[in-house]
Amino acid sequence: MIANSTDINNICCIGAGYVGGPTMAVIADRCPHIQVNVVDLNDSRIASWNQSDLSKLPIYEPGLDAVVSRARGKNLHFSTNVNKAISIADMVFISVNTPTKAKGLGSGQASDLRWVEACARQVAESAQGHTIVVEKSTLPVRTAETVQAILSAAQNPGATAGRPKTFVVLSNPEFLAEGTAINDLEDPDRILIGGEDSASIESLASIYKNWVPENKIIRTNLWSSELSKLTANAFLAQRISSINSVAALCEVTGADVREVSMAIGADSRIGTKFLNSGPGFGGSCFKKDILNLVYLANYFNLPEVADYWQHVVTLNTWQQHRISRLIVKTLFGTVTGKRIAIYGFTFKADTNDTREAPSINIAKDLLEEGAQLAIFDPKAKIDQIEIDLNLKAISPPIHNNPRSKEASIKGEGIWWAPKSAIEAANGVDAIIILTEWEEFKNISWEEVAPKMRKPAWVFDSRGIVNPSIIKSAGLKLWRVGDGAL
Ligand code: NAD
Ligand code: UGA
Repeated sequence: MIANSTDINNICCIGAGYVGGPTMAVIADRCPHIQVNVVDLNDSRIASWNQSDLSKLPIYEPGLDAVVSRARGKNLHFSTNVNKAISIADMVFISVNTPTKAKGLGSGQASDLRWVEACARQVAESAQGHTIVVEKSTLPVRTAETVQAILSAAQNPGATAGRPKTFVVLSNPEFLAEGTAINDLEDPDRILIGGEDSASIESLASIYKNWVPENKIIRTNLWSSELSKLTANAFLAQRISSINSVAALCEVTGADVREVSMAIGADSRIGTKFLNSGPGFGGSCFKKDILNLVYLANYFNLPEVADYWQHVVTLNTWQQHRISRLIVKTLFGTVTGKRIAIYGFTFKADTNDTREAPSINIAKDLLEEGAQLAIFDPKAKIDQIEIDLNLKAISPPIHNNPRSKEASIKGEGIWWAPKSAIEAANGVDAIIILTEWEEFKNISWEEVAPKMRKPAWVFDSRGIVNPSIIKSAGLKLWRVGDGAL
């Protein structure tokens, strides 16, 4: 199929989530000549994108509010009218969720493609004329075949009445990281476009060329593009599991993982990025994308390849439980009825996203042991934490709440949401740092320490505190990968 035109005037993006929203906002901002309609089935998400108060956008992402405010209402529109937006589009981006399948064939590993398939069917039905369909979601290799099959069934290239309906499918995976999404979109390392139809590839490239240098735009075949996205995430996650495995070795040998990271990262073949040991990787994608790779490898009868990648995920889960176990051990073998503060719940700093956050497993382990948690995060919403922990927060605060005493007697875990990091420290035996928010790097330990019950501990799973400051505040310290403490 050869595209008739290389001019794109109207874009529809299906899915107004962490990828669709910021990506389309930047495209609209950089391409004032293109109308961009971002559509979603979720009314409340669309309503939040349309909020006049930019602090209430559904996603917290540094710099996003400024980009949205420049383009929204001019050439950037958010709506629930999916069919209308598809019908007027020259190009449709599919940017919907692709979580791991929860049941059926491939359950626990394969991607659940029901939302992608639903989009393909909706595009097949509502598109008019020639439409370029772009896979922006992360998809298993050869998904384009499915999308293409659904679209082909609706094509009528020889139609005599009206405009003939034709489609081309491209793959254009997104590499942004949450917390730095706007910078990643405005100044990407590369743009990857996979496809078979060169005119359509150039139509998409011409959008990016409005702000991305030509030498950063990589063209490949469809399957290489789909597989490169899964592989990029697997490689990044594999570095984290590698350094976390070394952190455990550091802790028992007297080495310091920060020094090891620095020493190995100085080798330009290894490089310095993605070598921070922590509580394990979180986020909506690393785990699901590796599991997807594991599924594909098994599907294509490559069990050794599947086992290799499976271990990256196994080590990650182990690291999370290793941390909760060592906290319990350090606190004299029991945390039942003990108050513990958790600093940070999101899976990384500068996002409000808690999907697959290591804090979820760590907090659940401690609640299971009967701990009373004061969970403070600058951006995570209380109702989201309740969903993640499958437990309602108690109110008023633990120290004024009779539930606290009752829970201690019964050995039940409870949690509450203090308004600040300082407030969270009241009466706790330990503070566990789980997210590397700037606020926690700069906290006054002089002010925090007197509020805690002694002996008091800081468990720094991100390696962000200065050990001498913690010690001079009279606190004991565990730092990830620090065998020299
Ligand atoms: P998300 O869950 O935040 O957003 C997806 C949106 O799609 C939801 O709002 C949902 O309501 C909407 N949706 C689903 N089916 C729909 C349909 N048929 N019609 C209209 N709307 C529909 O997901 P996300 O984090 O933006 O991720 C989207 C894709 O991008 C995934 O494949 C993910 O792997 C990939 N990705 C994510 C990131 C990231 O940082 N989050 C980065 C790169 C790639
Ligand atoms: C990641 C990739 O970095 C993006 O390129 C990709 O587009 C995206 O996944 C995706 O496909 O969803 P993201 O998950 O948003 O982005 O954030 P990262 O910065 O990669 O962090 C992921 C997790 O790894 C976080 O929990 C973070 O704390 C952890 N991490 C990261 C470490 O523990 N150590 C590091 O050195 C780096």
